[in-house]
Amino acid sequence: MCGIIGYIGDNGALDIGMKGLKRLEYRGYDSAGLAISNGKEVSCIKVVGKVEELEKIVGDKDLVGSSIILHSRWATHGGITESNAHPHADCKGNIFVVHNGIIENYKQIREKLKLMGHKFVSETDTEVLPHLIEHFYNGNLEEAVIKALKYIKGTYGLVVMAKHNSDRIVVARMFSPLVISVNEHGGFVASDPSAIISHSKRMIFLEDGEVAVIKKDDFIITDLERKVKDKKETELDWDIEEAQKSGYAHFMLKEIMEQSESVANSMRGRLIIEEGISKLGGIDSVKDKLKDIKKINILACGTSYYAGLIGEYLLEELAGIPTEVDFASEFRYRKFPTVENEAYLFISQSGETADSLAALKEVKKRKALSLGIVNVVGSSIARETDAGVYNHAGPEIGVASTKAFTSQVVVLALVALFLGRQRNLSLADGKTIAKEISKLPELINNTLKDISAIELLAKKYNSASNFLFIGRKYSYPVAMEGALKLKEISYIHSEGYSAGEMKHGPIALIEENFPTIAICPQDSVYEKTVSNIQEIKARNGKVIAITTQGNEEIKSLVDDIIYIPKVNEVLSPILSVIPVQIFAYYMAVSFGHNPDMPRNLAKSVTVE
Ligand code: M6R
Repeated sequence: MCGIIGYIGDNGALDIGMKGLKRLEYRGYDSAGLAISNGKEVSCIKVVGKVEELEKIVGDKDLVGSSIILHSRWATHGGITESNAHPHADCKGNIFVVHNGIIENYKQIREKLKLMGHKFVSETDTEVLPHLIEHFYNGNLEEAVIKALKYIKGTYGLVVMAKHNSDRIVVARMFSPLVISVNEHGGFVASDPSAIISHSKRMIFLEDGEVAVIKKDDFIITDLERKVKDKKETELDWDIEEAQKSGYAHFMLKEIMEQSESVANSMRGRLIIEEGISKLGGIDSVKDKLKDIKKINILACGTSYYAGLIGEYLLEELAGIPTEVDFASEFRYRKFPTVENEAYLFISQSGETADSLAALKEVKKRKALSLGIVNVVGSSIARETDAGVYNHAGPEIGVASTKAFTSQVVVLALVALFLGRQRNLSLADGKTIAKEISKLPELINNTLKDISAIELLAKKYNSASNFLFIGRKYSYPVAMEGALKLKEISYIHSEGYSAGEMKHGPIALIEENFPTIAICPQDSVYEKTVSNIQEIKARNGKVIAITTQGNEEIKSLVDDIIYIPKVNEVLSPILSVIPVQIFAYYMAVSFGHNPDMPRNLAKSVTVE
């Protein structure tokens, strides 16, 4: 999520560091900072805003150094302030840390360190790291880092420098990517190859549990037991733009492919499987109010609205709370009466969508409880709602929303589990759902294993000028999301319909050249959807089915099949949406369109 770069060598640390940080800016950040060492002193500078704000301040100073660590922050814990920006330091200003990831047990560690006399100046989870390292520091930086990491639960890609060990920087990885390169120009580390690819194309990708000590002409990699690892360099033939996309042709494809990780980040530290509950710090302050909530109104736009429709099924099924969903753009003009004990839940990736913000203003005028599920930390909707849950899906660059959607549905499942367990959802059922949620990253990985078959299907069907997407129950919003994805990036007319509504009108459209994508996992409404598929086939319509692995019987009925892994039906949209995202992506590519920048659309719709 955040961007990290570090350098040690004789070639102008400040210039190398700043240029590298700028290359990470495409991911969109809210604050930035650096620590630079001249061998005797360390200067640390942090700003709120883009890297250019940091550049302005740095430009006024005479900063010369031989090692540097830099960070651009995408806030997760604590607001967007200078003190929350990285690097974070220990009490004595000896140890400086930049970090990407989430320290799950930071609260406990912070309390213990405070009792020992450590002084904290930020609200971040990261700040425990320099203090914990300080606690173990005895003149040997790598030893102190390793000792500290043994107490850490969570994820990290971190880079550490110490005033008194100025000949080295120490880096470590657990679930957050880091690459290193040491060559005749010095030692480099970055969260993303794009930051350092102009200095070297030969890189070593660190793995989880690895720690590297980087000097200007040497490095060593060990595990947390200090056992030396023999690692091979990888030669990257990417240019800078390709590097920003991690080698993928487009951000949309990169974001589709990283959904296993983004979904894992959305649920990290939030599930207690043995108790069958979810722990959501952001709504803790209103948890007593939530016990009495009798109705939930979900408001959102576009893809977030479709996630909201899945939320309706989830909240009604798991928590038994009557739920209504509306487009924020429509709702803002309704003369809606409020009733006692209801909550308004706003879902937005950007947190800046004008229609959602306007609807939120109307809700606030009526003094009703407002909640948010928002990806961008510190955005307007996140700030204006009474309480909420962040997605932690990481920056989404592609205009077509993909990883935000799966993350929104996961968070909705966590919210429904939380509210359900406050009500009548049994411990056994809570455990079942929690366990199924925890399996999602692996199931998403399986779904993404072979996307080439979907690429071929897109080629096969790309002469069609119209598409229909159908589904029932949990698959109905996926049908609408599939139609939205296809139309927004490939410009093919497509409609998403409830399969049961087909015979009330849309079936009139069906003929040989009007294909249908049927989202039909083997769930409680599977047989009903199969009947609808039969009705389409009887009218010569072509059908591509997205169904559960192992479903053989459907083979004789449809023209093409895309399989997804078996999962509890309430979570099936998180898997079934992936093939429709990939299908839309390859359709757009087959026409030569750039899926990252579809015509007439913007990433964040800040006008009415
Ligand atoms: O940032 P938000 O989630 O509030 O944005 C809502 C819609 O504008 C957004 O989902 C839009 O529909 C996307 N282009 C869909 O891919």
